[in-house]
Amino acid sequence: MTIAVLGATGMVGSRVITEASTRGHQVLALSRKPASEDPNVTPIGVDANDSSAVCEALAGSASHGAADAVVLAVRTMPVDQEFLVGATRTVLDIAAQLGIRVLVVGGAGALRSPDEQDLLVADNPVYVPAELKPVAAAGIAQLRTCQAHAGADWVYLSPPGLLEPGERTGRYRRGTDTLLTSADGQSWISAEDLAVAVVDELETPGFEYHITVVHGAGEPEGTGRWV
Ligand SMILES: NC(=O)c1ccc[n+]([C@@H]2O[C@H](COP(=O)([O-])OP(=O)(O)OC[C@H]3O[C@@H](n4cnc5c(N)ncnc54)[C@H](OP(=O)(O)O)[C@@H]3O)[C@@H](O)[C@H]2O)c1
Repeated sequence: MTIAVLGATGMVGSRVITEASTRGHQVLALSRKPASEDPNVTPIGVDANDSSAVCEALAGSASHGAADAVVLAVRTMPVDQEFLVGATRTVLDIAAQLGIRVLVVGGAGALRSPDEQDLLVADNPVYVPAELKPVAAAGIAQLRTCQAHAGADWVYLSPPGLLEPGERTGRYRRGTDTLLTSADGQSWISAEDLAVAVVDELETPGFEYHITVVHGAGEPEGTGRWV
């Protein structure tokens, strides 16, 4: 496949690129600071606010092929919900036009709480302290943007509560719209294993629109499918 990654220089995007390239996919690495030495990776300078640049990058050109799928893994510090929603809508619009699949790496806040299904993680102080609520709310707005979009083929991947650089084990547990915890009681995964899940989902798309994953070592706990 040719997989485009918007947010190529980020924690998630860079690992998705490594994972996809290692599996032999072609990668279009979209960011405002393009750079790569990997022959499978084509760096392309794109600002997510520039819809024609995003369209040009995904549609292909003389220098690179068209994307079969696009991974959206952008964020800003501090959080800018308007930017996030706008970039998501741009990617969904263009992907619908080009007929390509979108995988959004979003936030854990959009998941349901494990013990209280009607309470979103974003609204649950057990998981989200007041100072992180704007970040969690932006993730929910991003999911709602996907849900409201007519025509695009998308999947929204919520990471678990904690996502950080770490080890690639190649194992994880996959669930749908409820926060998962691993055997040690923690809701976490390494960015490397999240990238494994992203590329798995692109290679073998599931039927769900909202999915999540969690670290896979130890005994299974709660719901979710082992991969
Ligand atoms: N537990 C959780 O729920 C959790 C934890 C961590 C991350 N996440 C989510 O995972 C996703 C990826 O996060 P991350 O940690 O990988 O982010 P990150 O390391 O902060 O990287 C952000 C990326 O966004 C790109 N970006 C920002 N503004 C852009 C613009 N105008 N045009 C093009 N690219 C732009 C940056 O590219 P350049 O600046 O190079 O252009 C960079 O590649 C986000 O949705 C984030 O919310 C969730």
